[in-house]
Amino acid sequence: MQNKISIKDIARFEVGNTIAILVNTAPAVFWMLFYLYSNPAVLQDCRNEIESVISDTKEINGTRRIIDITSVKQDCPILTSTFQEVLRQRTLGAQVRQVMQDTMLDGRYLLKKDVTLIMPSLVVHTDPAIWGPDVSEFNHKRFVKENRIQSSQRLNPKSLRAFGGGTTLCPGRHFATTEILATVVMFILRYDLIPLQNRWTPPKTEKTNIAAVVMEPDTDITVRVLPRESSTDCRWDFKLPDSNMVFGVAAEDRHD
Ligand code: HEM
Repeated sequence: MQNKISIKDIARFEVGNTIAILVNTAPAVFWMLFYLYSNPAVLQDCRNEIESVISDTKEINGTRRIIDITSVKQDCPILTSTFQEVLRQRTLGAQVRQVMQDTMLDGRYLLKKDVTLIMPSLVVHTDPAIWGPDVSEFNHKRFVKENRIQSSQRLNPKSLRAFGGGTTLCPGRHFATTEILATVVMFILRYDLIPLQNRWTPPKTEKTNIAAVVMEPDTDITVRVLPRESSTDCRWDFKLPDSNMVFGVAAEDRHD
């Protein structure tokens, strides 16, 4: 109201917001769980790391296990690297911009005023010149700082453009990161997943909606969900002691 937008237009805007909020986070959780459970070593690395950010409190009815989400974002480099690798492999958004004035890039590329510029992130995310010869492999430690420094490639994490960039950079990126990591962490600590087909086959993604950034699986994977023995005799909870703590998943949030 204060910005002179009518109720009807607010309602229309809310439809767009619903898409923004839902279409990408649900498949991002799907791919996180897929890559974790289909790679036992990756799953074990992440479980070990998360155990260090859980605190146990004894209560009358038993133990309460509290997961500190701020610490998950801050102190779990393998898990957050896995998240970034999932986004690198499974996002296909294209940033669309209109060129406002003739602009020369790198002394070679002239962008003419008024043309529409389309920048598919998948092209950037699959370029071996940026990511090295193992570009098509799922390397869950690719974004861990020590690995980046040691590798001859000197990977620049700013090349990850899953959340777009510039003035229309996704404003939901921190919310999305928090909710995806929280869901995944709770899941992998409490459950084992066994695919009913006895193997994890990546589903095709050809039917992905045009509005989506994260690829959508065309088919379900049917699994048995088994509670882990160590997780049943306790109550589970979250805490978020510093909601302003930002995990730098977009170039604009990084200082390295
Ligand atoms: C994994 C989850 C998500 C991904 C990969 C994602 C990705 C993106 C991308 C690529 C853009 C376009 C950026 C550009 O043009 O440069 C965008 C825009 C946007 N996103 Fe997200 N997003 C996610 C979750 C969310 C959530 C949870 C919300 C809201 C709570 C949200 C709200 C928005 C909005 C409002 C825009 C439009 C921004 C503008 O045009 O100024 N997104 N997102």
